[in-house]
Amino acid sequence: MIIQTKADILPSEITPKEVFDNRREFIQRAGFGLLAGSVAMLSNPLNAASLSSGTLGSGAVGSGTTEGAGRLIGRANAPTSSKAIALGPHQKIAGYSKTLYGAGEKLTSYNDVTTYNNYYEFGTDKAEPAVNSKLFKPRPWTVSIEGEVKKNKVISIDDLYKLAPLEERIYRMRCVEGWSMVIPWIGLPLAQLIKWAEPNSNAKYIEFISMADPQQMPGVNIPVLDWPYTEGLRMDEAMNPLAIMAVGLYGEQLPNQNGAPLRLVTPWKYGFKGAKAIVKIRFTDKMPITSWMKAGPNEYGFYANVNPLVEHPRWTQSSEKRIGAGLFAGRIKTQMFNGYTEQVGQMYAGLDLRKNF
Ligand code: MTE
Repeated sequence: MIIQTKADILPSEITPKEVFDNRREFIQRAGFGLLAGSVAMLSNPLNAASLSSGTLGSGAVGSGTTEGAGRLIGRANAPTSSKAIALGPHQKIAGYSKTLYGAGEKLTSYNDVTTYNNYYEFGTDKAEPAVNSKLFKPRPWTVSIEGEVKKNKVISIDDLYKLAPLEERIYRMRCVEGWSMVIPWIGLPLAQLIKWAEPNSNAKYIEFISMADPQQMPGVNIPVLDWPYTEGLRMDEAMNPLAIMAVGLYGEQLPNQNGAPLRLVTPWKYGFKGAKAIVKIRFTDKMPITSWMKAGPNEYGFYANVNPLVEHPRWTQSSEKRIGAGLFAGRIKTQMFNGYTEQVGQMYAGLDLRKNF
């Protein structure tokens, strides 16, 4: 796919100047040496610079908006309303069990969950992944297991489904940009996958590596991030019962834009930890340097635990906007560990969360 850089559209036309300047500063600090034309299209994590100025970033004005769509691929391809986005095939998942996780939470609509996405391999605007990932092929798919393991292994996505009974987990997802959703994921505990993978005693961390296929993913042709998208967890975090490998949402296989066929979900951490379209899992003895750590080491740390007390250098983390709550709904207070302190708090006892942000 050819990416149109739309050099004819001035950054100032699509992004408030203050926001654009913040992003440009970020990119310069990140030192990617991007072409000037590309800079206009970048919304580093995350569009959030705009939060500090009281407005949300591109597309971040609530339910189903597609405002600003098409920055990466060109406006001609951009949908004009959320209804214009024809979602991919709905493949039901059979035989998963419901759990008590998230009981009573008001779910974010399917439409918002699947049309308001961060997935830079398919574009930097929220509405682009749903459009640009339509032809992405999540099957056949294999995940390779490498590093500090008894032996390297490869597992197909269909066999991965069988490693443990699939469960529905309704989790809050808090993006580092200052918005949140409530999503009914379907998946299996990451701990079950780790058990099958048989890490050895040197394994202290686990690294998740996403697919980076320039043929299928237009965004990887632009150095917005150091591809492939890479994330990581400490082993005890990975073994925490809250951590899941998601294969579906809303009773169906993951839509491409949400990370089909397999993504990580760690609800006490900012959403960027949830690597999508995972093709490789590597066990390591050293803390992996993730894509976002490389892009902005002062802004995006390895732990990335949701923490209302540790501000992002450029915006507040004390509150968030719940997507779909409506244009006039106020911001809600962000909770420590996104409200999952009981389940995860003990893992960070004695750790300075300001230094280890
Ligand atoms: N994984 C990959 N491979 N590429 C990405 O750009 N974005 C991350 C995360 N996983 C991203 C990714 C960010 S910033 C967020 S907030 C969540 O995915 C968004 O997930 P969602 O689009 O399903 O809501």
